[in-house]
Amino acid sequence: MRTPLIAGNWKMNGSMALVESFGESFARAPLPAGIDVALMVPFPYLGDAARAFDGTPVAIGAQTLSDQPSGAFTGEVSAAMLADFAVRYVLVGHSERRTLFGEDDAAVLARVEAALAADLVPVLCVGETLEEREAERTEVVVLGQLEAVFDALSAQQRARVVVAYEPVWAIGTGRTASPAQAQAVHAAIRACLARYDQTLAEGMRLLYGGSMKADNAAELLAQPDIDGGLVGGASLKVDDFLAICQSAG
Ligand code: G3P
Repeated sequence: MRTPLIAGNWKMNGSMALVESFGESFARAPLPAGIDVALMVPFPYLGDAARAFDGTPVAIGAQTLSDQPSGAFTGEVSAAMLADFAVRYVLVGHSERRTLFGEDDAAVLARVEAALAADLVPVLCVGETLEEREAERTEVVVLGQLEAVFDALSAQQRARVVVAYEPVWAIGTGRTASPAQAQAVHAAIRACLARYDQTLAEGMRLLYGGSMKADNAAELLAQPDIDGGLVGGASLKVDDFLAICQSAG
């Protein structure tokens, strides 16, 4: 019922040459039918990615956006500018944005609203730190981040969001959440969404992110409430990324 989504997040990595080589591989290697695939590339490569991936099923994503529509905000990029580059998805609230760039729940909500207003699909990232997990605060933290956004959205807006659960302690560490750990949090997220609306909860795509690799993707994606992956490091190697896509097919 829910179409799996595999999204790669290059973070501040990659090059024009890497965009081109991914484009060539996507054109050659058939991606599994019945899944959605996206690559979140750095801003300067959006135009190149749109050209290089044209004719392939891979959608373009961005990694952040401004909460402002235009104006004197040096260095910022608006939702409308992303839409100009045929961007479909945009990450919002990634833990690196929350911790390194001070984006709090209010900033995350403003960016989700900006994305929705430009018809982009916001991928709302939530996740707990190791300290919070060890203090048994995982659900409080994760559902708190979720509710801070969903409480403020209309029913129609909520249905257009994708949620990514990324435990901070699993990001870039090689330490993946076990399938059972990930499933438990995904189930809690879905139960929380059901408090807004049962249909919303059943239809919402929930991605797992945090050291997802070719060799652990299948087991994670087999969990009933895991509908895809948000892949960092392994999305920089085309063979690894394609192998993860195959696991979702
Ligand atoms: O957004 C993806 C992410 O934060 C996970 O990164 O390198 O652990 O797959 P990685």
